[in-house]
Amino acid sequence: MSNYHIKHLEEYFHVYRKSVNEPENFWEEIAEENFVWRKRWDKVFEGDFENAKFEWFKGAKLNITENCIDRHLRTRGDKTAIIFEPNSTEEKAQHITYQQLYEKVNKFSNVLKGQGIQKGDRVCIYLPMIPELAVATLACARIGAIHSVVFAGFSSNALATRINDSDCKIVLTSDGSYRGKKTIDLKGIVDEALETCPGVESVLVAKRINTDIPMKEGRDKWLQPLLDKASAECEPEVMDAEDPLFILYTSGSTGMPKGMLHTQAGYMVFTAYTFKNVFQYRENDVYWCTADIGWITGHSYIVYGPLANGATTVMFEGVPNYPDWGRFWEIIEKHKVNQFYTAPTAIRALAKEDSSFVEKYDLSSLKVLGSVGEPINEEAWHWYNDSIGKKKSPIADTWWQTETGGIMISPIPYSTPTKPTYASLPMPGIVPCLMDKEGNEIIENQVNGRLAFKTAWPSIARTIWGNHKRYKETYFSTYKGKYFTGDGALRDEVGYYRITGRVDDVIIVSGHNLGSAPIEDAINEHQAVAESAIVGFPHDIKGNALYGYVILKDAALERDHDILRKEINQKITDRIGPIAKLDKIQFTSGLPKTRSGKIMRRILRKVACNEADQLGDTSTLLNPEVVQEIIDNVLL
Ligand code: WT7
Repeated sequence: MSNYHIKHLEEYFHVYRKSVNEPENFWEEIAEENFVWRKRWDKVFEGDFENAKFEWFKGAKLNITENCIDRHLRTRGDKTAIIFEPNSTEEKAQHITYQQLYEKVNKFSNVLKGQGIQKGDRVCIYLPMIPELAVATLACARIGAIHSVVFAGFSSNALATRINDSDCKIVLTSDGSYRGKKTIDLKGIVDEALETCPGVESVLVAKRINTDIPMKEGRDKWLQPLLDKASAECEPEVMDAEDPLFILYTSGSTGMPKGMLHTQAGYMVFTAYTFKNVFQYRENDVYWCTADIGWITGHSYIVYGPLANGATTVMFEGVPNYPDWGRFWEIIEKHKVNQFYTAPTAIRALAKEDSSFVEKYDLSSLKVLGSVGEPINEEAWHWYNDSIGKKKSPIADTWWQTETGGIMISPIPYSTPTKPTYASLPMPGIVPCLMDKEGNEIIENQVNGRLAFKTAWPSIARTIWGNHKRYKETYFSTYKGKYFTGDGALRDEVGYYRITGRVDDVIIVSGHNLGSAPIEDAINEHQAVAESAIVGFPHDIKGNALYGYVILKDAALERDHDILRKEINQKITDRIGPIAKLDKIQFTSGLPKTRSGKIMRRILRKVACNEADQLGDTSTLLNPEVVQEIIDNVLL
């Protein structure tokens, strides 16, 4: 019987019971037996939901990179830590061993120190999926700097907002990036962002696409020459268990993106533990998660979780359809991937293509399939299970959030029987519950409710950077004494959870969490727009797509609608990034509002989803007449 690696269902129940009955003993044993510490903790847990304060392994000292790299050198020095698979099939894959990773991270750490970066400083990382991204992240952790990775698909505006919110001193980027057939001028985006970021003192630039780009004297430096000169030894900074490790931004339903702060020890223990169990990782397996390190999935399950287990983790630079739709399967065959972790939006896109793309490749190395980011629909689940898993690789439908740091609800492959579209059972240490609209806990099964958690777990985010009040309000005020997720869920007769989707104004498009407010703000910046509201509607591949209702200013009423649509989407691309573009834009003379002036999004959602026959009572609206106009002009 091992608490660290669960191998059958009975063991899961046993471990789960222990984790709930004696959580401190449970996590203490895991922490003690599977990690290296510079100093032991004084207390396993202290904290509460009322003040939203959580301290795990209080008083312990450690460095997460010692756990992810140094301690493996003796036994796994020549083992591959990272397989880098480039965008182009013409370019060779790179196998970076633990020893090489150690040297790279140390050199990068010394370069950062050379730029004056110290423990606690914020470092913005805006890099494509190249080895430097993983190395930069680990280098920050090694010297105790707080990394803030910004997904390299975000616009210059979104980048600037994030840099300024956490006062980053330095930006790490590249001359550009490859994305399928395209190249993207990343450094140009950084230059634009930095026009409004007075706090940034330096920019280090990795070479990737070898373009001739402007370098700002005194601010910008090429990375490689600095690395070449740096020493390959850098003593890891000894960190407190609760020192910040990173900030990662996620969108909320209102206002500024939220800089979720994660700390050292609890995050490490939980991501490593869940990685081991959810993917049933065994020595010499090759694990591949297709996410970008710019999202939490990449932080926890490309970098920290796998490396803490001494695993081999694949980093893929490219896209699923380049050079063709067989690329994922080709990579699985080439590197003999054992665990494959991707998102429903990718699964749906791949399932649409000709089956010959799959059949061409040998996928027999696969043992576990993972899904994350949004609910996986029945059809996609079966295609994944049958065509990719050949009905013998269990699917781990993993439910979690940027805020939770690690996987919360998921089958444990080969232990938990899977059920299509169900994330199934909680991880050890995790206590979910369903709440009704009145704020009471629902005890019975076979019901829908809102998903919350009753107890804290080691990798729960500690705060929103610079705004603890917002942190408390967003997650801990809806249900007293509980963490509220913002998701709805169904619990079946045996207690399996099925996540039904967001119950707030966050819309998940292609697995990306998009808040309606920032998108509406971007639309409203267009000089022709008086007001706008966006909602999600079902989309075959993206899960949800965005539908915008826009009121034009009088002066713009005569303008060409198609041109306006393009301009509005351009505004969104500039302010946020192309992922937030609207699929449909309907111009309207008004928006349905309550007497207190609140937009009734429920009505807009129904209309956009072609369910206008189920609007319910609209008579309490301030302006019921506008509903008919909206229905008459809907774009389906
Ligand atoms: C939201 C969090 C954490 C990884 C990526 C997303 C949705 C996530 C699932 C799943 C149904 C899911 C939820 C959640 N979500 N995984 N397996 N089934 N929904 O992180 O950007 O913080 O988004 O993604 O709605 O609240 P994120």
